[in-house]
Amino acid sequence: MTHAGCALVTGAATGIGLKIAQDLSACGFRVIGLSAPQEDLAALTKIPNTDVLTIDLRDNALKSKVCAFLGERGYLLKILVNNAAVFERRNFGDIDLALLFDTFQVNVFAPLALSQVLLDHKSNDGLCYIVNIASDAAFAGSRQGAHYAASKGALISLTRSLAKICSNRGVLVNAIVPTVTRTRQSSVPGMDYGTVASQTLIGRISEPSDISKAVCSVVSGNFDYMTGTSINLTGGRYSW
Ligand SMILES: NC(=O)c1ccc[n+]([C@@H]2O[C@H](COP(=O)([O-])OP(=O)(O)OC[C@H]3O[C@@H](n4cnc5c(N)ncnc54)[C@H](OP(=O)(O)O)[C@@H]3O)[C@@H](O)[C@H]2O)c1
Repeated sequence: MTHAGCALVTGAATGIGLKIAQDLSACGFRVIGLSAPQEDLAALTKIPNTDVLTIDLRDNALKSKVCAFLGERGYLLKILVNNAAVFERRNFGDIDLALLFDTFQVNVFAPLALSQVLLDHKSNDGLCYIVNIASDAAFAGSRQGAHYAASKGALISLTRSLAKICSNRGVLVNAIVPTVTRTRQSSVPGMDYGTVASQTLIGRISEPSDISKAVCSVVSGNFDYMTGTSINLTGGRYSW
């Protein structure tokens, strides 16, 4: 292998995941960009040293399909970025079991299954990294997304357990906690980027590159005394 190791990124065809895939490739990693089958893959397929894996994270055979993909190519994972998520806005009274299950399946169950995959197909070349993309909603709450906020809280809790579970396996596990970032997910009626920007201490809206730079820093080797933590990347909008 001439690359720095394999990095599996979920939700890699759009938004924050696409930028993470682009930047990890530029850092020398071989990227496996996991995307939902219906997604436009044009930008993802243009990234150098990248394999595209189209699979729905709701697939009950997710784990075995990803293991088969890695096994067929002889890939061992150095990095897993659990980035993909669903966030369907819903008034609290309209949240039903189907929406709850779907949200947790994509936002929590899939990251857990893919973390198991990393442990089974782990690179033996130095430390490995799991980076979970959470949300400030886990801390601040969400009027139209109690189910989403709860799923991100669960992801942060999973991060802490995984850090313990992986502590003697050479895997560091951390979460990054963005606030509203300029992507499709936040482009919803009623969203006012100007207001959000004014609520931050940095004074501008978060861009996908802000999250991607943090991911690249976490896996750079410069933060190898850090595991089990949640990195507040809200531009000072919230403190906790
Ligand atoms: N943007 C924000 O304001 C913000 C704030 C805080 C945290 N975050 C977090 O940042 C991460 C990235 O979000 P984003 O803003 O970049 O959103 P995005 O542009 O909507 O990207 C989400 C990606 O996840 C994929 N995905 C969703 N469900 C999937 C499934 N079942 N199987 C496979 N892929 C699936 C989507 O593909 P499909 O659409 O084709 O399903 C899409 O490519 C998420 O974890 C999000 O919760 C975002």
